[in-house]
Amino acid sequence: MDRIFSGIQPTGNLHLGNYLGAVRNWVRLQNDYECIFCIVDLHAITVPQDPAELRRTTREVAATYIAAGINPNSAVIFNQSTVSGHAELSWLLSCITPLGWLNRMTQFKDKAGKNRESVGLGLYAYPVLMAADILLYKATHVPVGEDQKQHLELARDIAIAFNRQFGEDFFPLPEPQILGTATRVMSLRDGTKKMSKSDISDYSRINLTDDAETIDLKIRKAKTDPDALPESVEGLGSRPEAANLLGIYAALTDASLGETVSRFAGVDFSRFKKDLAELAVTVLGPIAAERARLLAAPDHIDTILRHGAERANAIAAPNIAHVKELVGFLSP
Ligand code: TYM
Repeated sequence: MDRIFSGIQPTGNLHLGNYLGAVRNWVRLQNDYECIFCIVDLHAITVPQDPAELRRTTREVAATYIAAGINPNSAVIFNQSTVSGHAELSWLLSCITPLGWLNRMTQFKDKAGKNRESVGLGLYAYPVLMAADILLYKATHVPVGEDQKQHLELARDIAIAFNRQFGEDFFPLPEPQILGTATRVMSLRDGTKKMSKSDISDYSRINLTDDAETIDLKIRKAKTDPDALPESVEGLGSRPEAANLLGIYAALTDASLGETVSRFAGVDFSRFKKDLAELAVTVLGPIAAERARLLAAPDHIDTILRHGAERANAIAAPNIAHVKELVGFLSP
């Protein structure tokens, strides 16, 4: 069976972009693949984190996976730092990854910005750790949002480099799965910026923890333009906010963008926003409620994570042992 690996950083609230770009697709794919869903805490510490907060958000992300519909009895759910193979393989792969490849990573440039000289080495090496995450399990498929595409291309290049040097076809080349009509959900405050956990304005995103009133308020306040909604998809060309909100509606109803544009052709924003808010509350409300219920029993979440770590390690351990042998490490 083909194997999926994917993960999310436990750095704050998950939002609608994480749901539509990643988690919802995982739920839909979980019966057709062997699935490993990670909470990538090693990635989270590439920027400073408060330890108590990191523990809390790690449990919260686990609860959100399950509340959204991931079945922890079949899929492996665990936090990255509990399987040492991630850090080990990351080091080995960093030794065969040319700096030039990392210098091309746009996410590093965006995140480091003007602080290029003062951010930690981990932020720069982050894509190598991400390649290690996937290759450690010889995963064949990786469902992610559009923003991870460049990192996945790098993971494939690193796999090719390793295979060429140490043994043809050792690592399968992982295929990205960028699925649905909302692979890049944009900020509610600026349709040209990605919806993100790190945006300082909470009004830029819909968190999976927001209650009905907050969702309604955020959608009502979302930036729009003065015109009514267009008659055709072409009419969205220079209207990023309209395109984003219609794209979200399309994704939440599993319709195409074309169908959604036809449905709201000529309608003004206030009426459309009312429908969108109702829809978002209907889809996200039950997830928030189930997540809260799960978080009331943190011991149960910890048991799931512990069990997940054991299962993940059982897959990773022989792979890392084999990699060490190929590289030439003696294991007396
Ligand atoms: P992270 O934590 O930033 O995001 C988690 C997932 O959510 C998707 N996503 C979005 N999709 C659509 N619209 C958005 N606005 C949006 N924002 C985020 C991301 O594409 C991602 O799928 N490096 C990764 C985590 C990671 C990983 C991995 C993923 C570490 N190792 C191995 C896959 C395989 C990250 O920071 O995602």
